[in-house]
Amino acid sequence: MRYHPIPSTMFVNNRKHLTNKLPAKSLAILHSNDQYPRNGDQFFPFRQQSDFFYLTGIDQEKSILILAPDCKNKKLREALFLIETNEQIAIWEGHKYTKEEAREISGIENVYWLNEFEMALKETLAESDTVFLNSNEYIKFFSEVPDKNLRFARKFKEDYPLHKTERLAPLLAELRMTKSEEEIKLMKTASEITRRGFERILRFVKPGKYEFEIQAEIDHEFGLNRANGHGYAPIIASGANACVLHYVENDKMCNDGDLLLMDFGAEYANYSADMSRTIPVNGKFTERQKACYNAVLRVFKEARKLYYPGNTINKLNEQVNKMMEKEIIGLGLFTEEEVKNQDPEKPLFKKYFMHGTAHFLGLDVHDVGGKDEPFKPGMVLTCEPGLYIREENIGIRIEDDILVTENGPVDLMENIPVEADDIERMMSK
Ligand code: GLY
Ligand code: MN
Ligand code: MN
Repeated sequence: MRYHPIPSTMFVNNRKHLTNKLPAKSLAILHSNDQYPRNGDQFFPFRQQSDFFYLTGIDQEKSILILAPDCKNKKLREALFLIETNEQIAIWEGHKYTKEEAREISGIENVYWLNEFEMALKETLAESDTVFLNSNEYIKFFSEVPDKNLRFARKFKEDYPLHKTERLAPLLAELRMTKSEEEIKLMKTASEITRRGFERILRFVKPGKYEFEIQAEIDHEFGLNRANGHGYAPIIASGANACVLHYVENDKMCNDGDLLLMDFGAEYANYSADMSRTIPVNGKFTERQKACYNAVLRVFKEARKLYYPGNTINKLNEQVNKMMEKEIIGLGLFTEEEVKNQDPEKPLFKKYFMHGTAHFLGLDVHDVGGKDEPFKPGMVLTCEPGLYIREENIGIRIEDDILVTENGPVDLMENIPVEADDIERMMSK
């Protein structure tokens, strides 16, 4: 792996926290991600299923974890099943985990090859009243391709119709929402690599550069610093493209006088950073651009203070929307009078600020955690107000990752340049 070894205690603790939540005589079965087919004889690059990584640290396809804490057979209370590696595989595909390596990474004593899984399943099932199966419950996600957990659940229900099954996802979401110290360390590394990427391009951007050239600089910096790559498709959007919220083509030339909105985050040890910065292509904001930029920056700085225990994403959105509405009036985009008379179902600010301010962050860029979930110490969320004025070719977003603590919010990206003057100064070097 590119990342430095992670202490196995992190995964041991994660499993302990999960098994503490399981009722007596439970069995939990989790699968790794598939290798997703591309074309011909190629797969897409492998990315581990996030829950599987969270519980095992195992970064390999075709792996299965079973947790059966009450099983009489001690060797099956916690067991990991892996592809059996052999000389042929080692020569053609490269290295796969040995049992010893898997033990060291995961802290799981009982590591078996996959051909022993069916027997182990039968044995644990005979003693289990409830079987917990994993699934992707992300509410706004639809895929035509069933993942391994879903395929297994379908088959399981056919093969073992008399066993009671339960959802594992809510239990895992509850655990994953709050990050341990070890996880926060990994997220800080992702953040630090992202900072390096940004500072590199502050020295690189100028009129005439293509968005993909800028992305290539970021890719290079990420690679040099042990990132797996990006935590999500990076947005490198100049001029009008900055107003397209999910712009990912990154294929246009950056023009003199335009703004450049960049939203990218390194993925380190499967943990993602998520940052947005907006800079002037030629190194100097126009007066109007700076007024708009500073309006977003003021909202960003005030919004950052709202990541305290007990707040929620829904409440935070309302608080930030009010601030943004005021700034939009200040920029002359609509009047107080117009706001007073607006249809409350269709508030005017939404024309210029149409997305939410926060989402949970962790192993996934849009990590587990709902909008009414009260913030707790250890949670990490983004803070990302934006302003998109299509008629003026202005798209601005500022985004940092914020850790909730008992002593107030901690901005994990506070050392990444954000003041307009700092950006101009660094671009002029
Ligand atoms: N980069 C995705 C987001 O900001 O939500
Ligand atoms: Mn975000
Ligand atoms: Mn982002």
